[in-house]
Amino acid sequence: MSSNVNSVKNTLKVAFGLCAVCSIVISSAAVILKPMQTANEILDRNKNILVAAGLFDPSVHTNADVAGMFSEFTPRLVNLDEGRYLTDEEQQSLGLDPQTYDQQSAKNDPAMSEALTGTDDVASIRRRAAYATVYVIDNEQGEGYQTVVIPVSGYGLWGIMYGYLALEGDGNTVRGIGFYDHQETPGLGGEISNPRWQEQWLGKQIYNEDMDIAFRVSKGGGQGEYQVDALAGATLTSRGVENMIEFWLGERGFAPFLRNEVQS
Ligand SMILES: Cc1cc2nc3c(=O)[nH]c(=O)nc-3n(C[C@H](O)[C@H](O)[C@H](O)COP(=O)(O)O)c2cc1C
Repeated sequence: MSSNVNSVKNTLKVAFGLCAVCSIVISSAAVILKPMQTANEILDRNKNILVAAGLFDPSVHTNADVAGMFSEFTPRLVNLDEGRYLTDEEQQSLGLDPQTYDQQSAKNDPAMSEALTGTDDVASIRRRAAYATVYVIDNEQGEGYQTVVIPVSGYGLWGIMYGYLALEGDGNTVRGIGFYDHQETPGLGGEISNPRWQEQWLGKQIYNEDMDIAFRVSKGGGQGEYQVDALAGATLTSRGVENMIEFWLGERGFAPFLRNEVQS
């Protein structure tokens, strides 16, 4: 009898049974938790946008405040090459929704993005999606904007840094910067997430009078109208941040959109 229990057949039965039970439990958990996971991702994204815009102060606000505060923003899809908003018809025919559009997934889809090479790829991101979501707050006069938040990304020392840059309604003055994902070293390049370093971005100008990008991340540059101070011991990360701004505020990034829809 005992030899029967330990037979190869019985061992396989128990092993397969266990595998089946475990896979059902794991798949059910994944399906049940998916909506919660999506909700958390949206909460996190919206909080990062509020932080970049200088509206969310973690010492005062909590996650429960995010939805109410974020409702001030309108997400809108931009055609980057043409520098204009997508029309409702275009969004419908492309099946895109500004609330759910995922620029990172689109970047990896050859049908939704294009490769960047040579000097075009100053931020070393290799590909750029054709469309991007911007988050705007209309100004009180109902003409133009109070705040425009754009997604930005660029290679640092160890990997791509992802963040949001908030601009004032002139499409030039910085309202704030926030990074939500990067692989830079804590205490060195990781200081891009330090609110004290980010504070100096407030009020800086991106473009000069000729509308050329004048913004720089330079050692000892904190006092200038167009400069922020580079991070100590993290020259490569600092250069990555500068390159990121050069790309996303340039002609392959949001410059055409800012000219046509914000600065005009
Ligand atoms: C373990 C380790 C981690 C580092 N992490 C970073 C980093 O995240 N960003 C960066 O720019 N430099 C980093 N560095 C330093 C760079 O190798 C390089 O020395 C630095 O960018 C030069 O900056 P400095 O001219 O301000 O000293 C790291 C170095 C070491 C040894």
